[in-house]
Amino acid sequence: MTETLQGASKMKEPDIEKVLFTGEEIQARVKELALDISRDYEGKVPILISVLKGGVLFLSDLMRELTVLHEIDFMSVSSYDGGMDTTGVVRILADLSINIEGKDVLIVEDIVDTGLTLDYIRHLLLGRHPKSLKIVTLLDKRERRRVDVPIDYVGFVIPDAFVIGYGLDYQQKYRNLPYIAIMKSDA
Ligand code: IMP
Repeated sequence: MTETLQGASKMKEPDIEKVLFTGEEIQARVKELALDISRDYEGKVPILISVLKGGVLFLSDLMRELTVLHEIDFMSVSSYDGGMDTTGVVRILADLSINIEGKDVLIVEDIVDTGLTLDYIRHLLLGRHPKSLKIVTLLDKRERRRVDVPIDYVGFVIPDAFVIGYGLDYQQKYRNLPYIAIMKSDA
């Protein structure tokens, strides 16, 4: 492992197979995404919707690189029970606090795997009649897709492996890792 566990020195080291993206690589890609988004939303004030909990690190870095005015809001859903595989059942744990009708909405996701969670959220939000609805995801595990969800901005396409770090957890741990790594499947 090339990178140390910054900010996590007291934490038990996760069983990592491989670091996929270092903190520097993530920051560089987030800047590029923010440039594209800022250009596309010029003159508009989009509402960035972060899907808790995994999406918060990405949102906080992305919004600091945006050059357009914007608002943020949060939604909490659960599709996993903390393990490594999807249950296929999406539950809303906390809804938005603002009305998105007539607004330009950008969903900010950490990872799209089967697409079931995002498909559910997308249809739910479309039913509230936003002016536009786009999606940005940092990671796209394309091979695992079970529903076709239109994604407008993708940070990195990744292989079919369980990843942790930069907001992503395994049983609620390791979200604070500054890098994204593949976990050992027998961990
Ligand atoms: P989907 O509904 O299968 O697309 O899964 C979406 C959600 O599952 C994400 O927002 C994550 O919370 C979680 N998830 C999917 N793959 C991973 C992974 O590799 N590591 C950690 N969480 C994951």
